[in-house]
Amino acid sequence: MKAYIFDLDGVLVFTDKYHFKAWKMIADKLGIDFDEEKNNRLRGVSRMESLDIILEGSTKKFSSEEKEDLATQKNEYYKQLLENMTPKDVSDDVRSTLKELKDRGHKLAIGSSSKNTKFILNKVDLMDYFDAISDGTNISRSKPDPEVFEKAAEFLGEEPKNCIVVEDAYAGVDAGKAAGMAVVGIGDAASYDKADYSIKEFNELLE
Ligand code: BG6
Ligand code: MG
Repeated sequence: MKAYIFDLDGVLVFTDKYHFKAWKMIADKLGIDFDEEKNNRLRGVSRMESLDIILEGSTKKFSSEEKEDLATQKNEYYKQLLENMTPKDVSDDVRSTLKELKDRGHKLAIGSSSKNTKFILNKVDLMDYFDAISDGTNISRSKPDPEVFEKAAEFLGEEPKNCIVVEDAYAGVDAGKAAGMAVVGIGDAASYDKADYSIKEFNELLE
């Protein structure tokens, strides 16, 4: 019986649009170009590494204090945007598929780089679906490093070879493969050839 490890942002909830909006506010303030294409490079990547990618667009050197301050500003605005989330922000497709996988006896976990994972899961009322949560608060290396998925398997008490990762980020697909797991690509990662499977609709996980 396989265990499923889900990425959060861009897989279960579309918080990626809020990440974009919040980083765009920072980029605009600094006069740095930032578009959807660059935003794709931030998928799965930690907050500070995301900031470094944005700051590539500037010739100015930023001190670590300035960077901390920018990351804090981004997160404050991001959390304001998250405040509006409700259980309706999870599609029926996602909710019923998670329920069916649980009913079939699969263990379910989260494997997300986000430090806001539990805040989001509570907002959208998804907390009860998961047997384990591995997120940005229990890792020291971000995707594509496998740590977040290795920890999720450990929390579940499962061997990596019995785990299937569901990811929308290239970095997340690489992380899942590096952890020795099977990987399903969805959304942006559906066209990534390193993923073992590719799906368009969430309920294809049931096939
Ligand atoms: C990932 C997102 O889930 O979490 C990244 O795909 C984001 O874009 C990362 O940078 C960290 O999120 P947070 O909520 O800790 O700032
Ligand atoms: Mg994601």
